Amino acid sequence: MTAGERIAVVGAGLMGHGIAQVFACAGHPVDVFDESPQARASVLDRVRANLALLGEDESPVDRIAVHGSLEEAVEDADVVFEAAPEDLTLKQELFARMSRLAASETVLATNTSVMSVGAIAARARDPGRVLGTHWWNPPYLIPLVEVTQAEATRPETVERMMELLERAGKSPIHVRKDVPGFVGNRLQHALWREAFALVDAGVCDAETIDRVVKESFGLRLPVLGPMENADLIGLDLTLAVHEYVLPHLDRRPGPAPILRRHVAGGRLGMKTGRGFRTWTAAEAQAVRERLLAHLVGIARKDGPRPKEEQVR
Ligand SMILES: NC(=O)c1ccc[n+]([C@@H]2O[C@H](COP(=O)([O-])OP(=O)(O)OC[C@H]3O[C@@H](n4cnc5c(N)ncnc54)[C@H](O)[C@@H]3O)[C@@H](O)[C@H]2O)c1
Repeated sequence: MTAGERIAVVGAGLMGHGIAQVFACAGHPVDVFDESPQARASVLDRVRANLALLGEDESPVDRIAVHGSLEEAVEDADVVFEAAPEDLTLKQELFARMSRLAASETVLATNTSVMSVGAIAARARDPGRVLGTHWWNPPYLIPLVEVTQAEATRPETVERMMELLERAGKSPIHVRKDVPGFVGNRLQHALWREAFALVDAGVCDAETIDRVVKESFGLRLPVLGPMENADLIGLDLTLAVHEYVLPHLDRRPGPAPILRRHVAGGRLGMKTGRGFRTWTAAEAQAVRERLLAHLVGIARKDGPRPKEEQVR
């Protein structure tokens, strides 16, 4: 059965194939375009492998059609999700083209992680129907999607997107201003900035940072967000802590020197065998498997699974 809006996904890499999977599983017809023949050839198998990992039926794959041209993929779409590489010029060009190839009422969404949605839409015809949808990896396991309203985005474009994502079993939040990094990545990278600064200053090593997070406040995070936590301990105490400690936190405007040194030295992390720490191929694989098993476990326990009958 197929039902609901026709979805197009442009860029079928790590994120795009997972976004296509979410909508196919929710009963939508999905059209996929990727400029790479290898990506096009492998996308359905990658979705099948994800479904097998989840122990789910493979039949949603039949709702995904792979196309060799952008025009074919977007011409009949109600909603387009762009998940091409994080390059402003490339995305601007894609939105200029997609906004001419798709129908005038088609909603156009970018999966940019940090870039300005308004800048990406700068050359689009009618930027009022362009918005950000920042999915998290893997899109079929992480519920949250940040829906960003740029200055020109019409409120009804946001409403349509929020409603579509909810029906597909996701947990959309409305980001009311088009700020770099939106909400999730600003929070995440504020933590990383301080972590890198502590290691750079010799306060502790990289392994210790990870232990501190995983064995202390990280344990509370799934059930207690920072705003709830502040209210829980009391805002008077929070104010006192901030008066004392904030002047000591890293406030440099650019990346940490230690990060620049590692990158300049070719120490790029697991892919080169060394980053903040050294990694054998087996250790790196074990981290990936541990993460996936953890996320699959959560999804099986209480993850919202899209139901076909929820789709109009
Ligand atoms: N990887 C993540 O964890 C993550 C998380 C959230 C958001 N994002 C964002 O999602 C987007 C995609 O990231 P990814 O990790 O899936 O990248 P990726 O490199 O895995 O996939 C990008 C795909 O786009 C294709 N492509 C390149 N140029 C294209 C074009 N002109 N038209 C159509 N397809 C084209 C590539 O062949 C590739 O298959 C980026 O904007 C990224 O910042 C990534």
